[in-house]
Amino acid sequence: MRGLKGKRVFITGAAGGIGKATAQRFHDEGATLLLCDLRPLAETDLQASFPERMHYLAADVASQAGLDLVEHAMAQDGGLDVIINNAGITKDKSALKMTAEEWDRVIAVNLTAVFRLAQLAARQMKLQGRGGVILSAASVVAHYGNFGQANYVATKAGVIGLTKTLARELGRSGIRVNAVAPGFIDTPMARKVPEANLSTLIERTPMARLGSVDDIAAAYAFLASDDATFITGTCLNVDGGLVM
Ligand SMILES: NC(=O)c1ccc[n+]([C@@H]2O[C@H](COP(=O)([O-])OP(=O)(O)OC[C@H]3O[C@@H](n4cnc5c(N)ncnc54)[C@H](O)[C@@H]3O)[C@@H](O)[C@H]2O)c1
Repeated sequence: MRGLKGKRVFITGAAGGIGKATAQRFHDEGATLLLCDLRPLAETDLQASFPERMHYLAADVASQAGLDLVEHAMAQDGGLDVIINNAGITKDKSALKMTAEEWDRVIAVNLTAVFRLAQLAARQMKLQGRGGVILSAASVVAHYGNFGQANYVATKAGVIGLTKTLARELGRSGIRVNAVAPGFIDTPMARKVPEANLSTLIERTPMARLGSVDDIAAAYAFLASDDATFITGTCLNVDGGLVM
């Protein structure tokens, strides 16, 4: 992929399935990683996987303390070129049974943190004056809704709207803003879906399989690369054709 070598890439939720695969892809492309997740580094396998060109922040991106750590880290050692807002959670329950806490936490992690991190990243990128790329995790369920996921779907639809607005506001500064909407990817998150429902989903998917974490990592790498310099404000579905 053109233009990723030497770039400084910040990835949230980097200890998770898609986050780690994305870190691996950018590392393979020669980027320097700034990774973030909730757990201390020693409780992840990230140090062993990326012995060099990797910095790690144990932080909750939905907390002010976490955001302060991130803001400081973004300004260090040559700054920031790409941010990937990948951290996300589910707290599924039917809408009528969902508690205020279940709603609030999912909004805080999947949407408010994405906004706050994009804001911090854009400020840093504008200060540097060399443009940048902001990418965020949406989901195909943002396009058609999903049983038991009122909170989650609202955040993922929100990420798409936020992406379009930021793309308009930041384009003149050379900052591109895009989202990736994974379909059903073979991770623990997807494996929480009952087996019968997964089979139906695969039947309805033209490519007749679940996605892999590498499929999503490749989409992030493409959108961050110099092969995508005229792409902004879009949400790229990576779903084997499930939604079209
Ligand atoms: N897996 C799928 O099928 C699928 C489909 C559509 C969208 N997505 C989206 O892709 C993203 C990654 O999904 P995944 O399957 O790799 O999930 P995952 O659960 O494997 O990884 C998510 C990571 O985010 C971290 N995290 C959670 N809250 C955090 C916080 N407050 N601060 C910092 N880190 C935090 C977790 O510790 C975890 O390591 C999510 O945004 C998810 O909504 C996934």
